[in-house]
Amino acid sequence: MLEVTNLSKHFGALHVTRDVSMSVAKGERRVILGPNGAGKTTLFNQLVGEFMPDSGSIKINNEDVTSWSVAKRANFGLSRSYQQNTLFDGLTIAENLGLAASVKTKKSTALWRDSLTSPDVRALVRETAAQVDLTEHLNKRVSDVAYGIRRQLEVGIALATQPRVLLMDEPTSGVGPEMIGAFHHLLKRLPEDLTVVIIEHDMGLAFDVADSMTVLNYGEVVFEGTPDEARESTLLQEIYLGTFEDA
Ligand SMILES: Nc1ncnc2c1ncn2[C@@H]1O[C@H](COP(=O)(O)OP(=O)(O)O)[C@@H](O)[C@H]1O
Ligand SMILES: [Mg+2]
Repeated sequence: MLEVTNLSKHFGALHVTRDVSMSVAKGERRVILGPNGAGKTTLFNQLVGEFMPDSGSIKINNEDVTSWSVAKRANFGLSRSYQQNTLFDGLTIAENLGLAASVKTKKSTALWRDSLTSPDVRALVRETAAQVDLTEHLNKRVSDVAYGIRRQLEVGIALATQPRVLLMDEPTSGVGPEMIGAFHHLLKRLPEDLTVVIIEHDMGLAFDVADSMTVLNYGEVVFEGTPDEARESTLLQEIYLGTFEDA
């Protein structure tokens, strides 16, 4: 479903991704690990089209999208859960989800309040809210809900566009330990045929949701394998001394 081949990118002398290759099957949950600055977010920026790679290619569903714009990739079904500054604070959770859903259902957002009342948008909002456990919060304003709920909404907005491939960059960053369980529940219930790539620093969560793991270090893939193989890798034990122990 997602095929990355020899992706390289540098900023000046800094090689942020070096020959990164990765093949993620339909429905697979791939977790990306790696220390701060390893190039994980920069890899996502290239996947979504915000940065062009220097070399290498990206295929989605056998289609070479390497030269496509961000919008064209998004339309083709590549979605990234955005950081919370893209949420509309003054609108309700339902309205935020509705705007994302109306893009997919091709309802005009010029008259967005009208588009939100269309039956197919409303159905998609309800379905998405249930998927990300936000049903009871639908009528609350974003500015009135807790940080963890806003982060759930980011995932909801990405899902409301009905993607084939969902990229999540540290969905749990900044949330308290009490919310990790909520994200675990949410990640486990994503649609089975959705292909998911998650950058996740919470090792317990990462090991529990992953079908497979890719570890980046200094922009390079230094490991790819199952969570069990990762636990047994002496190389990873050395790079992340201690951090795998509670996984
Ligand atoms: N636009 C940019 N210009 C220059 N350097 C960048 C840019 N974006 C990221 N970097 C650098 O690339 C490296 C990888 O960053 P990043 O992909 O954010 O790492 P990670 O997400 O793994 O923590 C870092 O050293 C960062 O400073
Ligand atoms: Mg990052």
